[in-house]
Amino acid sequence: MKLHHVIEAQQFDTPTLLHLFNTATEMEQVVARGGTSDFQQRIMATLFYEPSTRTRFSFETAMHRLGGQVISTENAAEFSSVAKGETLEDTIEILNGYADVIVIRHYEVGAAKRAGAVSRVPIINAGDGPGQHPTQALLDLYTIRKEIGAIDGLKIAMVGDLAQGRTVRSLTYLLSKFRDIQIYFVAPSLLKMKEDILEHLRERRIWYVEETDLDKVLPEVDVVYQTRIQKERFGDRIADYEKCRGVYIINLDTLRRMRPKSIVMHPLPRLDEISMEVDSDPRAAYFRQAQNGLYVRMALLTMVLA
Ligand code: CP
Repeated sequence: MKLHHVIEAQQFDTPTLLHLFNTATEMEQVVARGGTSDFQQRIMATLFYEPSTRTRFSFETAMHRLGGQVISTENAAEFSSVAKGETLEDTIEILNGYADVIVIRHYEVGAAKRAGAVSRVPIINAGDGPGQHPTQALLDLYTIRKEIGAIDGLKIAMVGDLAQGRTVRSLTYLLSKFRDIQIYFVAPSLLKMKEDILEHLRERRIWYVEETDLDKVLPEVDVVYQTRIQKERFGDRIADYEKCRGVYIINLDTLRRMRPKSIVMHPLPRLDEISMEVDSDPRAAYFRQAQNGLYVRMALLTMVLA
């Protein structure tokens, strides 16, 4: 099964998701064997205009484990010719002459789509401002399936910065493709999930509710998907940021209210929204979730480079 550009979560249908997840499971074995040389003639460019730990390192590790090569700039806004005024479109045209796939993270919503419009080689969206982060949503869904056993029938609470968080937007689009999903959106009033996503859920007849009381929701759900309040997206609205931070914290008291078989997820990085004392509880799935990013991104690369 072949993929070309990976721009937004909506583009994935269920058969493609299942193929991707089966391939990711195979990739767990490939990594256990140390990798493969299947893609040794192929080059991946990573072009990141925003900071990253997990996404960039896991994509680059994925390409190395597949036997391929990586060209990279860790701060494209400063270390590429964008600093001299080069357009995104020209940068992508140039990279088309060097690489077989381009992974891009940008601070503007729609930047990956603009790149895809001019690129002959596959573009993978590694996050476009507060827009989408489709590969994060893919690894999130893979983690849910692996940890909970199924996606149909899932009850999930998405918590925190739902207005500016791109991961929850992409994950909601993916979940809306499955049956009997129930989503609890738990956010401060300033950071509620955007109307375009709620409208999408109403169109798909997916059950959702908006809540402010996390304690009320905890005993109901299989997954608590915690997110960081994204200070960098508040600009000079420091007072608003201060109002929203620290409202929802996952700690040992939270765990006591959760179901024994439920899990805590987080796209990371975290600040103080999950206490470190939670890390040793078996329900803390966020580091396993980040590890799954490697397998899912290896699977994605095999599909776009096939
Ligand atoms: N989850 C995620 O996108 O992490 P990074 O910002 O470290 O890539």
